[in-house]
Amino acid sequence: MTVAPTFPEAVAADPVFLADVRAGLSKPVKTLSPKYFYDAAGSELFEAITALPEYYPTRTEVGILDSRGPEIAALLPEEAALVEFGSGSTAKLRRLLRHLPDLAAYVPVDVSGEFLAAQAATLRQDFPGLPVEPVVADFTRPFALPEAIGMASRAGFFPGSTVGNFEPAEARTLLHRFGEILGPAALLILGVDLVKDTARLEAAYDDAAGVTAAFNMNLLKRINRELGGDFDLDAFRHRAVFNAEASRIEMHLVSQRDQTVRIGGDSFTFREGETIHTESSYKYTLESFRNLAATAGWQSVTAWTDPDALFSVHMLRRD
Ligand code: SAH
Ligand code: AVI
Repeated sequence: MTVAPTFPEAVAADPVFLADVRAGLSKPVKTLSPKYFYDAAGSELFEAITALPEYYPTRTEVGILDSRGPEIAALLPEEAALVEFGSGSTAKLRRLLRHLPDLAAYVPVDVSGEFLAAQAATLRQDFPGLPVEPVVADFTRPFALPEAIGMASRAGFFPGSTVGNFEPAEARTLLHRFGEILGPAALLILGVDLVKDTARLEAAYDDAAGVTAAFNMNLLKRINRELGGDFDLDAFRHRAVFNAEASRIEMHLVSQRDQTVRIGGDSFTFREGETIHTESSYKYTLESFRNLAATAGWQSVTAWTDPDALFSVHMLRRD
């Protein structure tokens, strides 16, 4: 008698994750969505990336937020509720808070539930006067803001160039949706990474210590653990390349040999050298991003960059 293998984790598997993985690995060019990087381990790995010498975006954006904090505060309405989309470690909000003593509430929205709960708990400890109302949600799907924020004016915060992880058409839809969530005349503070030389871009996504490689590989570990996959982690390698025509860094996982991978009841074949495209990180100019935002119903109030023009922070107002 043969006994069918059981995957205890697969029983509790998130059906949306499973369906997305099945669909992505069945395409002629295999893809997985970068939102699945962020389980608790992936969120920790991302935090490690932000401290890498090669990964300039975080420290550069923090520098802009620090130096422009008073201007940002002067533009925001008094006693606003600030909604951060993809809040991660909330480190940037902590810097902004120095300039926003009258914030009515902070609403961190993130798909990485365990990590979000931990961040919200420490924020409440560190800022006892600030109502913190976390929302675990995939912000690409409809979700409601907490009723606790009441009638406070809403402003959005979307730092880190997370907007760059969406195809421009998807980014437009997302920004439009954020406008609907935030309401008329809302402001949105948004971080956008800028086009620059290829060597610097590629180093930022293929660091010498291998942290970005581990972040990319974590996706396969997650599929093995949560969906009962049998990816051989030694049979895939991280690759990061700048696609100048599309103005995006692409991250891939490259199959090192011909192989078949099983996930639940499905099999997926890979040729040697075939890749799974796991992330795009679009790089904009100030003008190309303003044009994109305008088509999503957001007008530029102002934009700031660092002295080397590596990164930008935009202040947008909804039409
Ligand atoms: N804002 C932080 C973190 C950026 S990392 C910073 O600037 O450093 C991207 C964050 O967005 C992660 O915390 C990830 O969990 C979250 N995220 C990615 N895709 C998401 C989605 N579709 N819905 C909600 N959160 C998402
Ligand atoms: C969250 N996001 C903007 C990061 C980026 O730079 O595209 C994710 C990341 N991927 C690899 N390193 C960092």
